[in-house]
Amino acid sequence: MSAALHPGGLRYIMSSAIATPSRSIQASSTAFPNDATVLCGRDKSLTHRAVMFAALAKGETIVREPLLGADCLSTMSCFRALGVQIEALDSTSIRVRSEGFVSFRTPAVDLDCGNSGTTARLISGILAAQPGLKVRLIGDSSLSSRPMRRVVDPLRKMGAQFEGKDEGNFLPLIIHGKALQATTHEVDKASAQVKSAILLAGLFCVGETSVRLPNGSRDHTERMLQHMGANLTTDLENGWETVRLQGPFAPPNGRYRIPVDPSSAAFFCVLGLLRKGGQLTLPEVLDNPTRTGFLKVLKRMSMALSTVSDPHQQFVEPIMQLKITGGTRLKPTDIEASEVPTLVDEIPILAVAAAFADGPSVFHGLEELRVKESDRLSKTAELLRLAGAEVSVQGDSLKIAGRLREVLPFTYDSVGDHRLAMAAAVMARQSKKPCCILDSECVGVSFPDFYRVLDDIF
Ligand code: S3P
Repeated sequence: MSAALHPGGLRYIMSSAIATPSRSIQASSTAFPNDATVLCGRDKSLTHRAVMFAALAKGETIVREPLLGADCLSTMSCFRALGVQIEALDSTSIRVRSEGFVSFRTPAVDLDCGNSGTTARLISGILAAQPGLKVRLIGDSSLSSRPMRRVVDPLRKMGAQFEGKDEGNFLPLIIHGKALQATTHEVDKASAQVKSAILLAGLFCVGETSVRLPNGSRDHTERMLQHMGANLTTDLENGWETVRLQGPFAPPNGRYRIPVDPSSAAFFCVLGLLRKGGQLTLPEVLDNPTRTGFLKVLKRMSMALSTVSDPHQQFVEPIMQLKITGGTRLKPTDIEASEVPTLVDEIPILAVAAAFADGPSVFHGLEELRVKESDRLSKTAELLRLAGAEVSVQGDSLKIAGRLREVLPFTYDSVGDHRLAMAAAVMARQSKKPCCILDSECVGVSFPDFYRVLDDIF
């Protein structure tokens, strides 16, 4: 066991005696600066997709400011195993060199997707459509218990061949690449991973691949394909969207610059609101309405959060600057099921905010949280309960009484779920006594610098 006094005055105790490290976090005793600007981690969803499209393209693609979190590194190592060269160009960019998807070769090793659902599900759409290729996808214990049939079934409808436990519902999953048929799909979940897997398979089919699904899931795959010149349209009607792609389409090589991940910025938005004062500025945050539902919720809770769009930077998608003023009271708010797709990854940190609101909040329609990196619905409730908040899970809803005034010291097991560990760290920052987060380093999945940035604002 070693203890270190961090320059920012925050005492972290890193335990080396156990396999998964833990951290002790509490409110800082040092005064925070009035105004602080913090750059949060780069966008995970966009980095995955930029690497995937770069690997499919023939030639060289530069990705500036990619997220080098564990999930995106899993995507990179899968494509390396297929024969794509991916290397650091300089300290902030990577270069992807590929002979194009036609050159993908059956790898000598299993493709390890680690903890990353996006890697496993999106790569399934790509690889199922490569005739003659045979791969085996594996993942860590969390990913190996997450459902794959949501992508396997629609891909099978296109002619794909999979082998795996429970009719292909779980990794390890063997994919036998085949020539697929353009097909019409209807999906009952607002899932960007499912939509993207179908569209990525559709790139290799002749004719129209279409997918109809409930509205609101992130649309990066569609935006990037349109940006590259693909014939892709989206129609919205009565809460449903239909995306149509005309195939085949071979993505060209190009240039990407990745903005800050709104899902990572969300932790600092809540932290900024919970500070006793001062202003926090978060620059270069991706401004896409399918990702920023949490900002609508936080704006309902407080006037102290504002967004300014930033016309100067060149990204495939717009960016904005967020400004958050601390020390204001938070109003309770409900979250409707229809809002959930636009804030699906932000529920744990929104629940932390709601615990401090002036009254009760109810979050509805959270069934998808049960199949994220952990059962995030019950684990979010557990975090709030340990901190002293009154909370209950009723069906797929989370009821949070609010009015949490004193955070009890807690020991919380993140069970390796990055978003739970970061939500717990924000909660721990409100406690006067040390709180312990077990398996704390899993933040590296999506935001490797999280604890350093957390220190920077105190
Ligand atoms: C993601 C989609 C979401 C999200 C995940 C990343 C993506 O999952 O939870 O963190 O990049 O497509 P679902 O599409 O399954 O909701």
